[in-house]
Amino acid sequence: MKILKTTKELIDYRKSLTCSIGFIPTMGALHQGHISLIRKSIEENDSSIVSIFVNPTQFLVKEDFSKYPNRYEADLRICKLIGIDALFIPNIDEIYFANEPNIVAPMRQSYMLEGYQRPKHFDGVLRVILKLLNLTKPTKSYFGKKDAQQLFLIQNMVKTLFLETAIVPCEIIRDENGLALSSRNIYLNEKEKIKALNLSKSLKVASREIMSGELHVEKIKKRMREVLKNLDVEYVEIIDRKFCKIEKIDLKNSIILVAVKIGKIRLIDNMWI
Ligand code: PAF
Repeated sequence: MKILKTTKELIDYRKSLTCSIGFIPTMGALHQGHISLIRKSIEENDSSIVSIFVNPTQFLVKEDFSKYPNRYEADLRICKLIGIDALFIPNIDEIYFANEPNIVAPMRQSYMLEGYQRPKHFDGVLRVILKLLNLTKPTKSYFGKKDAQQLFLIQNMVKTLFLETAIVPCEIIRDENGLALSSRNIYLNEKEKIKALNLSKSLKVASREIMSGELHVEKIKKRMREVLKNLDVEYVEIIDRKFCKIEKIDLKNSIILVAVKIGKIRLIDNMWI
């Protein structure tokens, strides 16, 4: 596995390849969710590149980006074991410069839900992803459905800026109890983990309601809020897959999303229906 630390090394490496490239951008602290993305990329491409870059521009001032989990040694071992071809681990000054054009995510879809809780977060995500896609020029890029809004905004950027990569949405990976995997889960103590199970429980309740014929968004959200009643809920929402509000669920075109805070940890989960 090649370890690439500079953008020049990455560009030279990419130019040396004449085959299909799969790209998996991450912020490290790799877990089974990332591993499933990496495996898919290895299956579908001749060469797979993973990046680990804790992107400062997607953190709010009040969010301490220096406290983002750093598992560099473990991440390195995982990447080697799975068999990726190259790992890109740049320093901040390889990625960001003093005078840069501004990338601003579309207002409506980036200031609702996650964007309402974390204003400008998606500007930072799009900014770094645009740079990483331009550097790696991958045939396919892999993103988890767990960050549904991020996935939607990246798909939209790729389409509207005519970037030449296929975005591959990957399924949410859960632990044996149903908790969606996230790098932030390592901060949860045992009691908090039990509380956190209510996120996936609320989604299951919603899916049962839908299977029994209930399609009214407000009624389903009310049932979900009952499950989440003892938690600090940030949002419970059901929207279509273009992130537009709906009153009635349109099957195979909707997403149910939930975000809560447990202690200081924000957790999100969703279900595509
Ligand atoms: O989902 C993440 O880990 C990050 O938002 C991403 C896509 C790697 C951009 O920094």
